[in-house]
Formats: sequence, structure tokens, C-alpha cells
Amino acid sequence: MTDPLHRELLDLAQEAARRAGELLRDGRPADLAVARTKSSPIDVVTEMDIAAEKLITDLISGRRPGDGFLGEEGADTEGTSGIRWVIDPLDGTVNYLYGLPTWAVSIAAEQDGETVVGVVAAPMRGETYHSVRGGGAWATGAWEGERALSCRPAPPLDQALVSTGFNYVAEVRAHQAEVAGRLIPLLRDIRRSGSAAVDLCDVACGRLDGYYERGLNAWDFAAGDLIAREAGALTGGRPGEGPARDLTVAGTPGVFEPLQRLLEDFGAWHD
Ligand code: IPD
Ligand code: CA
Ligand code: CA
Repeated sequence: MTDPLHRELLDLAQEAARRAGELLRDGRPADLAVARTKSSPIDVVTEMDIAAEKLITDLISGRRPGDGFLGEEGADTEGTSGIRWVIDPLDGTVNYLYGLPTWAVSIAAEQDGETVVGVVAAPMRGETYHSVRGGGAWATGAWEGERALSCRPAPPLDQALVSTGFNYVAEVRAHQAEVAGRLIPLLRDIRRSGSAAVDLCDVACGRLDGYYERGLNAWDFAAGDLIAREAGALTGGRPGEGPARDLTVAGTPGVFEPLQRLLEDFGAWHD
């Protein structure tokens, strides 16, 4: 039986992700331009990132005025209810800017600091992934009802398909490329989708064996991390730690452990 509060948070997260996803999909201007940049000249924000975050925070705060927010585009409030929403209104902005289909709306709800609900909507795939803590991982799409997600049985590491991402800061990217260069001969192959939230859900769906990245923020991984874990994946950061800015790692059991060890040996968390 799902806790009624968690059910309410899930329903609200799904509605917000669906409406923001429709806004982004149907409202993308043909002449979409960069509104401003953040950590570097290639770390871009569009008017649509900002509009999607506003839609989500307006909707949720209208229904649950006591909740707090942490959103990539600036939402940052404590709240009084013990619930905080961690939101990436558009994960995969560079893909979106270029008209590539891999981008998502990522919404997580934390209760007393722990993620209890995660929703990732990938509108151009026509798929949405969701989890409530302890309740498994699920997808909805162009089929009847909900499909249970479960990560793949582990192949040997040299047959594992692993995704990663590159930070927007040039020196960090250069170091990430070195680490990827050392890893690639040891794996089946490497992918770079352009959306951390989609990568984590692809581990949950069994479409990837593993994923890692340095430099993520909580809004990038909060929802996808819960969905991956609820699908049976292992997730973490550096050995013994949870996913963090230093390092985020996810993988099917049997791939996660050697991948995390190699990333530690290769110093993936720093340059
Ligand atoms: C980015 C994407 C990308 C990852 C970057 C993130 P954004 O998020 O998740 O895949 O490699 O580290 O910052 O900027 O598109 O929301
Ligand atoms: Ca992001
Ligand atoms: Ca974003």
C-alpha cells in the first residue's frame, strides 16, 4: 500500500512533468535562442527552461503552499511541510536547443531530506518513468497501463554499455575525456546522450548497463537515481558514498561495482 502522502506527491509530480513536457514539446519556438549562460559559454539556458520551471513551481505551490523547492533555474525555498521538490525543468538543454530528441523534465520530492518520489518525462520518446520509494520503478508510454522496469542482467564488464556525460567547464571536460579514454578499451562501448536524467532511467529500463558522470547537481540525478534504484540498479558516488557532485555512478549489480572501482582508480572525481 502506497503511503497516501507519497501517492499525492506522485500524482502532482506526474501532472507537473506532463504539463511542462507538453509546454516544451509544443511550445518550442522555431527560432529558439540562448537566453543566458551559466558556468561557461556553452552552459546555456533558454526562455523555455525558465518557462518550464515556472509552470512546475506555480502548479505545485498552488496545491501545496508549504513545500520547499530547489530548481535549476533559481527556485530555492525551505518550505515548512518537510517536503522539498528538486527540479530540473529541462535536462538536456543543448539537445533541445539543436532539436535533438533526448531531453526530459525531472521532478523529485524529498521528505525530510530523502527522495521519496521521482518522475522523469521524456516527451519526444513518449515515455515517462516514475517511482515511489519502496514501490518499484514504472514506465508509461504508448501502451496500456504501467510497465515495471528492471535493469539488465550484468554482462562481463568488457561487454557493458556505459553512458557518461561531460561538464560545461573546459578543464573538467578535458579530464573527463582522459578518464573515458582509459575506460573505453575495458567496456563494450560508451554513449553520451546529453541528459543525465534519461541516462539514469535507461539504466532502469535495461537499455544501458551503467552510467557515470562527474559534476552533476542534485536536480540532475534526484529523480533518476530513485528510479534506477527501484529498478534494481545500484547507485552511488565514490566508494561508500551516495551520488554527489564529485561523482555519480549507476549500474546493474555486477557492473556497478567494477565500474565504481575503476572510476576511483582513474581519479574520475577530480583532475
Ligand atoms: C546536463 C545534462 C547532461 C550532463 C550535464 C548536465 P542540463 O543538464 O544532464 O547530460 O552531461 O552535466 O548539466 O544543463 O541540460 O540541464
Ligand atoms: Ca540537468
Ligand atoms: Ca536543466
